[in-house]
Amino acid sequence: MAIKRKLGIVGAGNIGGILLLEIAARKLARTIGIVDIKPPAVAAGKALDVAEGTPIINADVNFVASRDFSALEGCECVINTAGVPRAMRPDGTFPSREELLATNLQIADAVADGINMYCPDACLVNIANPLDAIVYRLHQKLKKPKHRISGMAGVLDTARYRLFIAQEAGVSVENVEAMVLGGHGDTMVPIRSCTRIAGMPVEQFISSKRLDEIEDRVRKAGGEVVSLLGTGSAFVSPCWATLEMMEAQVHDKKKILPVATLLEGEYGVHGLFIGVPAIMGRGGIEKVIEVKMTPAEKELFKASVEAVRQTAREVDRMGAEMDKAKKAARKPAAKKPAAKAAAAKKQPAPGKKK
Ligand code: LAC
Repeated sequence: MAIKRKLGIVGAGNIGGILLLEIAARKLARTIGIVDIKPPAVAAGKALDVAEGTPIINADVNFVASRDFSALEGCECVINTAGVPRAMRPDGTFPSREELLATNLQIADAVADGINMYCPDACLVNIANPLDAIVYRLHQKLKKPKHRISGMAGVLDTARYRLFIAQEAGVSVENVEAMVLGGHGDTMVPIRSCTRIAGMPVEQFISSKRLDEIEDRVRKAGGEVVSLLGTGSAFVSPCWATLEMMEAQVHDKKKILPVATLLEGEYGVHGLFIGVPAIMGRGGIEKVIEVKMTPAEKELFKASVEAVRQTAREVDRMGAEMDKAKKAARKPAAKKPAAKAAAAKKQPAPGKKK
């Protein structure tokens, strides 16, 4: 087993907390660094809690926690969870993942700066929402090779699809093989033509009308959890999904997983992070696999890509403004008005003889 020397987690909220304990329990790293700005020292508190349990689960893991990004020093891989989650509004509605963009984009820039400062060579898996847009921005700031940066969404969306199918067919979740591709939003595309129950086409078990309903539920599944929890979004299943990606890398599994990866011509898409199946191993995203879709699935996939493109354009616009503001803030401060006035006094008034 080739465990990582050091893994980093950004954000010690619900997702960061579960990642911390699962990475320790699964012994995926010798040291875990966790960062959260939240006072008094939430990251340190969560790390100490898990650390004090490690003798019970026989896990020799070290923990480093900080409120700045220094706990990421020397990490080989970082999981970014930092951002505000979707939560229910007083009127019972909740925001789309895209509505989190303005806030989470600012946070993503701070994360990128932290990674650039403390572990510029680390690979990165992003979980923060809107998933496809945040990983796109992180890539702009970090400029990592595409196999070293990805987003987790497809594994989670696919797990939801598998569960609902297993429940409907009355079979084990282990019997269901499926794939949900595209963006991690309401346009995501369950690929029914690739869905099998113990190797048999899913339609042999479930009617097409019921599958339509199930697929609709999959697209809205994140929101279903938000509306039940009220205070935030799903956190256990997103962690397990991320860990499936991380384990594929740590154990060099060469596992085909649906992940948000930078497409550079595959599927006819250039420069966007889109959920597609890829082989994951020690090298990260080792190969993108092109799935044969039905014409109807192709159309849905195209629509999903367009939705991701729209959000990416929004990221470009907002990101350019953020970069401009940052540059302006770095410029040396202009002379103070009082100093200017004093300097003006020294000059002879225009037209006056010396
Ligand atoms: C969800 C969030 C994590 O789908 O995006 O539940």
